[in-house]
Amino acid sequence: MTAFATTGSNGTDVRLTGISKAYGDVTAVHPLDLSVPAGSFFALLGASGCGKTTTLRVIAGLEEPTTGTVELGGRDVTALPPYKRPVNTVFQSYALFPHLDIYENVAFGLRRRGVKSVRKQVDEMLDLVQLGDYARRKPQQLSGGQQQRVAVARALINHPDVLLLDEPLGALDLKLRRQMQLELKRIQTEVGITFIHVTHDQEEAMTMADTVAVMNAGRVEQMGAPADLYETPRTTFVANFLGTSNLITADVVGTAGDDVLLRVSDTKLTLPGKRCTVGARVGEKLLVGIRPEKITLTHADDAGTIADGRNRLTGRIAQSSFIGVSTQYLVDSPAASGLSVYEQNIERDPRLVPGADVVLHWNPDHGFGLDSAQAVSAGKPDEAGTDVVEAGTDAREAGT
Ligand SMILES: Nc1ncnc2c1ncn2[C@@H]1O[C@H](COP(=O)(O)OP(=O)(O)OP(=O)(O)O)[C@@H](O)[C@H]1O
Ligand SMILES: [Mg+2]
Repeated sequence: MTAFATTGSNGTDVRLTGISKAYGDVTAVHPLDLSVPAGSFFALLGASGCGKTTTLRVIAGLEEPTTGTVELGGRDVTALPPYKRPVNTVFQSYALFPHLDIYENVAFGLRRRGVKSVRKQVDEMLDLVQLGDYARRKPQQLSGGQQQRVAVARALINHPDVLLLDEPLGALDLKLRRQMQLELKRIQTEVGITFIHVTHDQEEAMTMADTVAVMNAGRVEQMGAPADLYETPRTTFVANFLGTSNLITADVVGTAGDDVLLRVSDTKLTLPGKRCTVGARVGEKLLVGIRPEKITLTHADDAGTIADGRNRLTGRIAQSSFIGVSTQYLVDSPAASGLSVYEQNIERDPRLVPGADVVLHWNPDHGFGLDSAQAVSAGKPDEAGTDVVEAGTDAREAGT
């Protein structure tokens, strides 16, 4: 059992109300409301420069907000200096003390507070991060992942109610990153305190967090459980930034029961009304979103075998890449060019090669409908800089 279990610390909730930050005429964070429940693993996800670190520094008290209040466990701490807040931060550069061994690095916070007997707590912390055997090494004698765990132990020993992590895995290679993601998740589950993790890596955010807030240009675009964000993105930015989405512009031509009926280049598509984030009016346009793995490819010669009730588009394979677990296709369709389709490699149809005529088909329930006023390519990797989306501000705010 860890020191946390014995003291019963289980974190506290964090509430930001109307928090904004301007540096001169640069607005790093627009007025922002965030509520992080006690004991949750919360991720702030967004591209470089979108205001993640600024938000974290405001919570820690390292940055004074231009407007708004910070509450921890219901207490307004906006005016408190950092050292009076029950918060610790782990930065990307772990900033370990090079001249101290691992044991003393972890003991540091206790010694500074004048705690006389540190042994039991330090041992528990080293066990928690599985570095008991490394206590007498110096930081430079550890791997990047091990140093990262020392940094976490050094912060946790102060029993913060909230641990802030700013891209703590940024210096690690991909394999170690994946390992550390699971490790951090385990530690958080064990100590039960509130973790707020900042990252620009969508896979990392989805792997670790209970709740992800997707930030774009100083605003929260959408917040929710990873699966909900992925399955039901509310903006084109979220649809493209979290995984890959095909977004097809279609005309709304009618309704049938709860379904919205659409047309794109003489092909009819259906979308359940509850899957649309905007009202669909006949004569207007809608973006129909569909994830690549939800689409099945059938060779045009077998089109008759496709079950009724599925949405279908015709197309021609432009590219295919075999990547082991799946094959990824780019398909040009009269409805849209460059549609992405991922097929699991179970029974591969040898006819599905570039140049082949195919039908793309999917269950209408798997689509989602977005406001067509937004930029279709917002949040795509090649454009993931700042200020990607200018259109669709209203839809973005509705999604927060
Ligand atoms: N001290 C400062 N003075 C002026 N502008 C600043 C300052 N700190 C941050 N900014 C600006 O505020 C915006 C948000 O910065 P922030 O560090 O919060 O981004 P971030 O989301 O953490 O990005 P990254 O992923 O690159 O770390 C950026 O445009 C940045 O240039
Ligand atoms: Mg940052």
